[in-house]
Amino acid sequence: MGRVLLTRRVPDGGLDPLVDAGLEISGPHEDDRPFTADELRTAAPDHDAIVCLLTDRIDADVLRAGAPPAGRLRVVANVAVGYDNIDVAAARDLGVAVCNTPGVLDETTADLAFALILAASRVLSEAEADLRAGRWSGWGVGQYLGQDVHGATLGLVGYGRIGRAVARRATGFGMTVLHHTRTSTGEPGHVAELDDLLARADVVSLHVPFGDATRHLIDARRLSLMKPTAVLVNTARGPVVDEAALADALVAGRIFAAGIDVFEREPDVHPNLLAAPRAVLLPHIGSASVATRTRMARMASEAVADVLSGRRPANLVE
Ligand code: GLV
Repeated sequence: MGRVLLTRRVPDGGLDPLVDAGLEISGPHEDDRPFTADELRTAAPDHDAIVCLLTDRIDADVLRAGAPPAGRLRVVANVAVGYDNIDVAAARDLGVAVCNTPGVLDETTADLAFALILAASRVLSEAEADLRAGRWSGWGVGQYLGQDVHGATLGLVGYGRIGRAVARRATGFGMTVLHHTRTSTGEPGHVAELDDLLARADVVSLHVPFGDATRHLIDARRLSLMKPTAVLVNTARGPVVDEAALADALVAGRIFAAGIDVFEREPDVHPNLLAAPRAVLLPHIGSASVATRTRMARMASEAVADVLSGRRPANLVE
């Protein structure tokens, strides 16, 4: 009934909907290395669907090579909620459906954002690194002093499903929750100006998609508006923050700490950020729980099965 290109391994059970629909799966590479741009372009025309990860660049060249009349590609399903790795406009022009995995990863990603809020505020990485390296000589009243999370003001930039899930957790910590969105939500805590929210928050957590409007949304000027005791958390997309400016702000003590899960040029991390004090840095693991990654793969697979059977998938990017 159809052939699906799978670019990387996914958790067990994630492909069941493809198997149940009788679809043939090709890929991933034996050693699970990523497909190169050339390999994607070459493979695309022989497939009706691609199930890919956010690390695969599905650009206009790949889509043109795959879509009719050159090939028979009908759908690209990203095992991720963000889809800035796919040229959605080109896909639309070529009649290729694009699907993502909204909803199933909100709570898991919010857990990680909250873990970073706690870890960065309480300087956990540095404290643990010292202990492991034998640099801890015993309890000291002035050691590893962080900022309290309970009772602090949380400023959410973006207030979609994940931002709201972080807000629910913050309530349990007695935090005051503010949020900024470009259009008013009409809900309590809405702050119309981002600059205003940055100046008021003790913890700023980013939950906006990446695109032209959000590239370096947090730059040197905006970092300078934050309190010197404030903590910045990014579990959204790396390029939303100017990494070099963030490193400078940490070194200069213009903000207190940062918890960062996503980077501008993954897997590279700006060397200044690696060297900066009070930065908790994680390798893009926001949605990385067994259950959630399995659900994400299933959702992408279901979308492919839907499109190839002529059904409208629930999670079509439009
Ligand atoms: C992860 O970053 C995702 O977009 O799902």
